[in-house]
Amino acid sequence: MTRVWLLLSFVSLTSAFYLTKRDEFHFKSWMAQYNKAYDFEEYYQRLRIFTENKRMIDKHNEGNHSFTMGLNEFSDMTFNEFRKSFLLSEPQNCSATKGSYLSSNGPHPDSIDWRKKGNYITPVKNQGACGSCWTFSTTGCLESVTAISTGKLVPLSEQQLVDCAQDFNNHGCNGGLPSQAFEYIMYNKGLMTEKDYPYTAVEGVCYYEPSMAAAFVKEVRNITAYDEMGMVDAVATRNPVSFAFEVTSDFMHYHQGVYTSTECHNTTDKVNHAVLAVGYGQDNGTPYWIVKNSWGPYWGIDGYFLIERGKNMCGLAACSSFPVV
Ligand SMILES: *[C@@H]1O[C@H](CO)[C@@H](O)[C@H](O)[C@H]1NC(C)=O
Ligand SMILES: *[C@@H]1O[C@H](CO)[C@@H](O)[C@H](O)[C@H]1NC(C)=O
Ligand SMILES: *[C@@H]1O[C@H](CO)[C@@H](O)[C@H](O)[C@H]1NC(C)=O
Ligand SMILES: *[C@@H]1O[C@H](CO)[C@@H](O)[C@H](O)[C@H]1NC(C)=O
Repeated sequence: MTRVWLLLSFVSLTSAFYLTKRDEFHFKSWMAQYNKAYDFEEYYQRLRIFTENKRMIDKHNEGNHSFTMGLNEFSDMTFNEFRKSFLLSEPQNCSATKGSYLSSNGPHPDSIDWRKKGNYITPVKNQGACGSCWTFSTTGCLESVTAISTGKLVPLSEQQLVDCAQDFNNHGCNGGLPSQAFEYIMYNKGLMTEKDYPYTAVEGVCYYEPSMAAAFVKEVRNITAYDEMGMVDAVATRNPVSFAFEVTSDFMHYHQGVYTSTECHNTTDKVNHAVLAVGYGQDNGTPYWIVKNSWGPYWGIDGYFLIERGKNMCGLAACSSFPVV
């Protein structure tokens, strides 16, 4: 009885928004699937946000888009909450307009996927509630470049970058850039393994131990801003490449297909998420990048996503880089 009353009063507070039994049924099965529990008050707040998200997702999926959206573990959050807890808190300024990467002129294969070329890519990791995406993009890239060069794939420490790379304009859980993290590893003369310096998702005191350094950077190669062909060249002829782009609200619900957006910006000063290009290809004539994300293996396509290639989509060509080991 109390419950019905509360639900009714809730509906009247948000007059234009009806919650049906069906909405609640969907919410409860989603809660069970993702092991969510709320106290009484939060339950209705989350139910409403979830239902708004679900309606938006269903509407998107009825339309003619190159990608579908789906429910995931973030479906009870508004984009603002999501941004505050999972992405860079502030857009990063990555105006490294003049890069140090000299592109070859190809020809390049039509597609490449470093996941299939050998044991070069570690399993998808989860950054948790910390804006440390830049550290995962950095370790993902250095892990693969090191594995390509040595034949050994070793998971590397994001936490060392979160705790220790501040002098290179990085800000722990508040953002940073892979290019600046590679610079730190180069000047610091090493990065420890994930096992020796495990991830906590909280900024702590730096306890880097030089004798335990496991990966090294000899040089940092920045790809000239907006030179997306330079990225293709690097991924085709060398190794996976770290890049950043601007995440907007539609991206958080990405399920599968080639992501494109008209909401996002494409400049160097708006990027707020760093990831790893592990390959590229095309789908019905639409070229795309294959990208490793750091939101766990259940988001997107087993933790990966595809994004349109060749248009600097969401600024993805604004600041890409990789290390030489
Ligand atoms: C869907 O979009 C594609 C690409 O924009 C277009 O070629 C196709 O004709 C559209 N299909 C429908 C049913 O609108
Ligand atoms: C970004 O950094 C560049 C070079 O340091 C600077 O010239 C530019 O004003 C900065 N842009 C913003 C929006 O802060
Ligand atoms: C690469 O770019 C970063 C900024 O993102 C800059 O600090 C660094 O000096 C650049 N390195 C090279 C070798 O150009
Ligand atoms: C950004 O997008 C606008 C509008 O689509 C386009 O005119 C411009 O060339 C793009 N700039 C870059 C650097 O990609």
